Amino acid sequence: QETPLLDRHHRTINYLRLSITDRCNLRCVYCMPEEGISFLPHKEILTYEEMLRLVELCVANGIRKIRLTGGEPLVRKGVIGFIEKLNKIEKLKEITLTTNGVLLKEFARDLRKSGICRINVSMDTLKPEKFNAITRRPLFERVWEGIEEAESVGMAPIKLNVVAMKGFNDDEILDFARLTHRKPYHVRFIEMMPIGAADARMKGFISRQEILERISSLGSLHRLEPELMAGPAEVYALEGAKGKIGVIGALSHHFCATCNRLRLTADGQLRGCLFSDKETDLKTALRQGKDDGYLSDLIRDTILNKPKGHNLDLNNPRKCVRPMSRIGG
Ligand code: GTP
Ligand code: 5AD
Ligand code: SF4
Repeated sequence: QETPLLDRHHRTINYLRLSITDRCNLRCVYCMPEEGISFLPHKEILTYEEMLRLVELCVANGIRKIRLTGGEPLVRKGVIGFIEKLNKIEKLKEITLTTNGVLLKEFARDLRKSGICRINVSMDTLKPEKFNAITRRPLFERVWEGIEEAESVGMAPIKLNVVAMKGFNDDEILDFARLTHRKPYHVRFIEMMPIGAADARMKGFISRQEILERISSLGSLHRLEPELMAGPAEVYALEGAKGKIGVIGALSHHFCATCNRLRLTADGQLRGCLFSDKETDLKTALRQGKDDGYLSDLIRDTILNKPKGHNLDLNNPRKCVRPMSRIGG
């Protein structure tokens, strides 16, 4: 149990994405419809105690890094206390968070203190009016202040997630790249994935290749080594820049062969793959009072049987039953 577990395809599984709520305070066009989606009833959502027990079991089975996701993780009450408890799990090396930044200004300091070492913030545009159009909420300044607050309390590097969309924000690719000259941020361009409300928007798809080519007009891009236990981004930097540039080729250049991740949804389903609706129902087992050995076996089985990969491409968008906000990206 000391060594990380391998799945059938010889991949080391050491990274858990934990979605703590499916609720969100934004309505990004590629994620949710204007009216939102029906949120899970409270009794379906794992309590923090339940999550903690499952995380401990995952750690006993090789997980070393955890990323809290949502919906928007900061809208769930008590998140700081939960992170403090996660932080006491000895073998967990990293606790990270992906947020839309709306509540970051208030939370940055406490997040840092409670044990979050790094954050990733969704930020698809540098223009307030466009931000309103993408997220359907007029909160650009608030999010930007949140990012600066996180920087000032020493969370580094801050990663900005930019979902690239033709005709929407592709005119800002170079502005985002130039931002890395001024700021130590790590700007990552993400290929849009045909999941959730993005399904209907795939005509706006831009590939990682096209993004990299456009940025090359600013100067040569140096490829950098990925971080330890890193996610799917390929990392580059412009000469002399303070920050970095990443591309996540979720569709065109998929990284399934080196995937190190599991996902636990807020309603207690363990998923081997973002795109596979095959789930292991940990919640029911937990609530039936099954012991650690039983739950551990379920976790190991899910790891062992992690799908080899997805076969999505632009011409083959497969629908997931779960919307993105119920998986956590
Ligand atoms: P770190 O490398 O730990 O910083 O995290 P990350 O880049 O994996 O996390 P983040 O939550 O910021 O996700 C960035 C983008 O990558 C989002 O669009 C995610 O949906 C996507 N992503 C993360 N993991 C996977 C994966 O296993 N498969 C695919 N296709 N996309 C993923
Ligand atoms: N394609 C790519 N990225 C997406 N995200 C949400 N929906 C999609 C999609 N369809 C991103 C968010 C957030 C991260 C967790 O996932 O912008 O930064
Ligand atoms: Fe909320 Fe994230 Fe979906 Fe935007 S992408 S609506 S921030 S869950």
